Amino acid sequence: MPLPYSDIVMEHFRNPRNVGRLDDANAKAVEGSPACGDMVAVYLKVNPSDLRIEDISFESYGCASNIATASIITEMARGKTLEEAKNLTWKQISDALGGLPSIKVHCSVLAIDSLRAAIENYEERHGLVKERTATTVELVTKRLKRVMNPMVGLDLVRTKLVREIEIKDGRVRVAVGLPPDHQFAANIKEEIMEKIAPLWDVKEVAVEFDELALSPLPMAL
Ligand code: FES
Repeated sequence: MPLPYSDIVMEHFRNPRNVGRLDDANAKAVEGSPACGDMVAVYLKVNPSDLRIEDISFESYGCASNIATASIITEMARGKTLEEAKNLTWKQISDALGGLPSIKVHCSVLAIDSLRAAIENYEERHGLVKERTATTVELVTKRLKRVMNPMVGLDLVRTKLVREIEIKDGRVRVAVGLPPDHQFAANIKEEIMEKIAPLWDVKEVAVEFDELALSPLPMAL
């Protein structure tokens, strides 16, 4: 039985707005859903003088609900300041779409999380983060939960590929349990760098690949 999508959801799914990479973006985020393994990327072009979102686009590797939510989010966030866009709620977005089936809530949450992560990415890169807590292994682990293991569509931590995290004097070392010449090694390294390097007190990120590295980090982190 087809899911009861509203006409607005179907319209945004069939004709998504602002799709594709933004060549002159100054912030971006890729988020993955632990629930389904799908991903969505959000690109922002922020005006540094008034912190307004001048342009925004997305790429979705998710379902109709995810595509429709990401599409309407780009329309709702464009022209807003970062603070205003941060305060967009799931309810506002869901209402704008004419509602979403409850089984599809995580898909829309994924799109909203991606927008928030892209805003966070801009703030971190531009020294705008207000609460500056020291980077810890827990924080790095949390970020690595947003990096997908492309082989199975789940994140690196859940799939036990993160073998070790070490933080010393602003240098973060991440050991990944794959051979250095693995087909996805370069891609995973880039994703890890993107998630960790913007943290305010991180000076260097080293990603090491070693399939024989120590046992995985505990899942509970
Ligand atoms: Fe994965 Fe919707 S089922 S984003």
